[in-house]
Amino acid sequence: MDRLKGKVAIVTGGAMGIGKAIAARLAMDGAQVVVADLQKSPAAALSLQVDVSKESDVAHMAAETAKKFGRIDILVNNAAVFSSLELRPFENIPPDEFRRVMEVNIMGVWLCCRACVPHMRKAGGGRIINLASGAPLKGVPLFLHYIASKGAVISMTRGLARELGKDAITVNALAPGFTLSENVAKVPAHVRQGEITRMSRAIQRDEKPEDLVGAVSFLASEDAAFMTGQTVVVDGGSAMV
Ligand SMILES: NC(=O)c1ccc[n+]([C@@H]2O[C@H](COP(=O)([O-])OP(=O)(O)OC[C@H]3O[C@@H](n4cnc5c(N)ncnc54)[C@H](O)[C@@H]3O)[C@@H](O)[C@H]2O)c1
Repeated sequence: MDRLKGKVAIVTGGAMGIGKAIAARLAMDGAQVVVADLQKSPAAALSLQVDVSKESDVAHMAAETAKKFGRIDILVNNAAVFSSLELRPFENIPPDEFRRVMEVNIMGVWLCCRACVPHMRKAGGGRIINLASGAPLKGVPLFLHYIASKGAVISMTRGLARELGKDAITVNALAPGFTLSENVAKVPAHVRQGEITRMSRAIQRDEKPEDLVGAVSFLASEDAAFMTGQTVVVDGGSAMV
């Protein structure tokens, strides 16, 4: 398939897990894929060490991508603090951890959009795909900061879609269900959570990163040109919105 031939995509947090699977799919679709992550990604056309919560790192990400490939068409805001979070009652979340989740999961999305949109405008349009989650839709307990941050991602998706429609830039959110990505599969508490979630699905099996990539490929493509501000839930039919 070459539905994204000639396009340049940035996938944040694309060195591991869901982001890695998305990066691989966009590359298979013909895009030049830049992975921006705290860790290096040997598989990417360009791998940049970026903390999405740091303004200077994000500015460098956009500048280096434009320098190497001349344009930015697609931004997948996938980086987030997630698998490292301990499940705990809201009273027990350390304030510094709450702040860090806000910085990475909310501010990081904003900073990356702010750095990439001028390049998309220059290219005559673009696609922004924000990884949200089914958790704020269902009100999942024991990680209040995380569900708050993903609720904010859905809100930002809608607001940005309104602001960027005139520039032919679409902004959509993808809401995965509980997904057995590499890091998540290593944490017994997450795996137990996965077993409970499985029972809530119309399709009762584990969700894998590969289950998400087709939706991202579609949202990044010309086929989705008239679709914006939406939250696409891909979770085997657990949350039905
Ligand atoms: N796995 C799930 O069950 C699930 C469910 C719903 C939504 N999501 C969302 O999908 C996305 C990917 O999830 P995952 O399970 O692969 O997560 P993960 O925690 O395993 O991986 C996230 C990636 O982001 C990178 N990263 C973390 N902080 C970063 C930062 N400040 N700057 C740059 N990169 C950073 C990590 O190095 C890692 O490669 C996240 O946005 C997550 O919230 C995951």
